[in-house]
Amino acid sequence: MTSIAHYKPLAKAFHWLTALLVLLTIPAALIMLRPGIERSLQDPLFTFHKNIGVVIFVLVAVRLAYRLVNPPPPLPDSVPTWQRHVASLTHWLLYGLLLAMAISGYIRVTAGGFPLEVFDPLGLPRPVPRSEALAETAKSIHAALRYPLIGLIALHIGAALHHALIKRDGVFQRMLFNR
Ligand code: HEM
Ligand code: HEM
Repeated sequence: MTSIAHYKPLAKAFHWLTALLVLLTIPAALIMLRPGIERSLQDPLFTFHKNIGVVIFVLVAVRLAYRLVNPPPPLPDSVPTWQRHVASLTHWLLYGLLLAMAISGYIRVTAGGFPLEVFDPLGLPRPVPRSEALAETAKSIHAALRYPLIGLIALHIGAALHHALIKRDGVFQRMLFNR
């Protein structure tokens, strides 16, 4: 395998921190909404989910700004054009869905009058009016977007593993820290 261009260390740090938080917060959400769950488990999961969601929003926003100035390295020539297009579309959809999830969750919680335990004391602004109708709409959007998000993450991880284990073309290594 010839030498291949890597993502920059900061891009890798953004990727793996976001991936870790997203892969923790989705199961947390699915568990906290299970019927009959004990309040003693549900409450901390809600607190975790809401506040980590805000962190994910900030990480994705900063990462997109960083990406504008530091575009991804070129893929190896062995990757066919259609796969480049699918990869690029998947990555943009992942960014867009993460932002949409975080914003709809934030509106659901703010319009519904619920606390953000970590960020309220830090003075995070809440420029959204109290409104049950708005809270319900945001809740429906938040719930509906989970399907495309989980599906795309599965596709993305599957593609990454395909590159790592079957094609062994160095694409997976672009995102690893050990050169
Ligand atoms: C990218 C970040 C986020 C992801 C991936 C995410 C994902 C999810 C998922 C998968 C669910 C389960 C939906 C269902 O089964 O109906 C959920 C529920 C929920 N999320 Fe998020 N979320 C994120 C950010 C946020 C944020 C920032 C907040 C609030 C500040 C939030 C508040 C909530 C609430 C309150 C629920 C329960 C909805 C209900 O009332 O039924 N989420 N989230
Ligand atoms: C174990 C889980 C994961 C693995 C193994 C993985 C692997 C990778 C790899 C190898 C790349 C570089 C692809 C290339 O060279 O073009 C990449 C890029 C990317 N990954 Fe992941 N990933 C994982 C989880 C996630 C999650 C959970 C998300 C977000 C929901 C995510 C979002 C992205 C995005 C947006 C890019 C594109 C980076 C850019 O060019 O801006 N990844 N991932």
